[in-house]
Amino acid sequence: MKFAIAPNVHWVGKIDWELRKFHGEEYSTHRGSSYNSYLVQDEKIALIDTVWMPFAKEFVANLAKVIDLNKIDYIIANHAEMDHSGALPELMSHIPDKPVYCTANGVKSLTGHYHKNWNFQVVKTGDKLSLGKKELIFVEAMMLHWPDSMMTYLTGDAILFSNDAFGQHIANEHMYNDLVVQSELFEEATKYYANILTPFSPLVTKKINEVIALNLPLNAICPSHGVIWRDNPLQIAQKYLQWAADYQENQITIIYDTMWNGTRIMAENIAQGIKQADDKVTVKLYNIARSDVNDVVTEVFKSKAIMLGSPTINKGILNAMAAFIDMITGLKFKNKKAATFGCYGWSGEAVKILGEQLTKAGFEVTSDGLKTMWQPSEEAIKQAVDFGKQFARK
Ligand code: FEO
Repeated sequence: MKFAIAPNVHWVGKIDWELRKFHGEEYSTHRGSSYNSYLVQDEKIALIDTVWMPFAKEFVANLAKVIDLNKIDYIIANHAEMDHSGALPELMSHIPDKPVYCTANGVKSLTGHYHKNWNFQVVKTGDKLSLGKKELIFVEAMMLHWPDSMMTYLTGDAILFSNDAFGQHIANEHMYNDLVVQSELFEEATKYYANILTPFSPLVTKKINEVIALNLPLNAICPSHGVIWRDNPLQIAQKYLQWAADYQENQITIIYDTMWNGTRIMAENIAQGIKQADDKVTVKLYNIARSDVNDVVTEVFKSKAIMLGSPTINKGILNAMAAFIDMITGLKFKNKKAATFGCYGWSGEAVKILGEQLTKAGFEVTSDGLKTMWQPSEEAIKQAVDFGKQFARK
């Protein structure tokens, strides 16, 4: 499959309709994904990024139908992660001497992955590569999201090949932002930002403002996953600026795990209390052991506050909750309040542990939490409702 983005710019990647887990088992991809590779043909010919290794042979075979591989002059590796560089060994086995343009960190990562001494050409921000009438201009994007990441801008057609930035995990027959269901597009773009880019938000703001300040014309942003932003392409950059500014909506998310339903009953009554105190706030509840973790992370990203609940087991918290806290700690959320709750039988450490871990994760924990011994009584249910009310008022 290939399609034209501009008269001499073609998408030559791979749509992965089957993908349901990405980064090993780390990221759920309910709508599949794509690995976008782009072929730019001027007097010189450049290939920008490749695809994930399982599709390497298929990718190179398809590419060979589009262009004689020997006519490719330059290979641009915007990012060494294997979903984009995975087909390089197969491609380079056909054209071993062609130059591979990447950042200095890209050389380290690509060499570390493939142990090949390819003809690396190191570039940095502002470096240009003439293709004849048009030029490629490189923009380093260190830690967005790897040390090696960079973007490539094509003059003339005014296209930014942004690699992971502005991507979404979507497999779709329509590869343009104006042709897909908007709610699905923004759901996936938000999930992508929340789960991958949140820790790097200060860098996102800096880099986008730096690119905007260049005042370059922009007809399209071509990321390395999902659809191409051709209709008002800057809209996704503006969204990123919003998301990077400690984003929150008027939402409180209650996330719990439960053994015999006591902590679930607390969660539901806390939710009632929040709604009684503030009927405008959106309240969502998730049993973390039964939910998609990446989807719940996205809800945390959208929330102004969260509440975590776990019963006590072996003087600690339940496993699914422990893994979830580990995940949100790494994502470095900011500007969010939190509270904790849970049932217990005899020792009851979980609520305190949750509070300590949330504090360590950067949340503002607003109280010592709410503990209920055994199953919630009528009195404990009333306390849970009151706890929800108090939290909403904070
Ligand atoms: Fe950082 Fe899509 O790989």
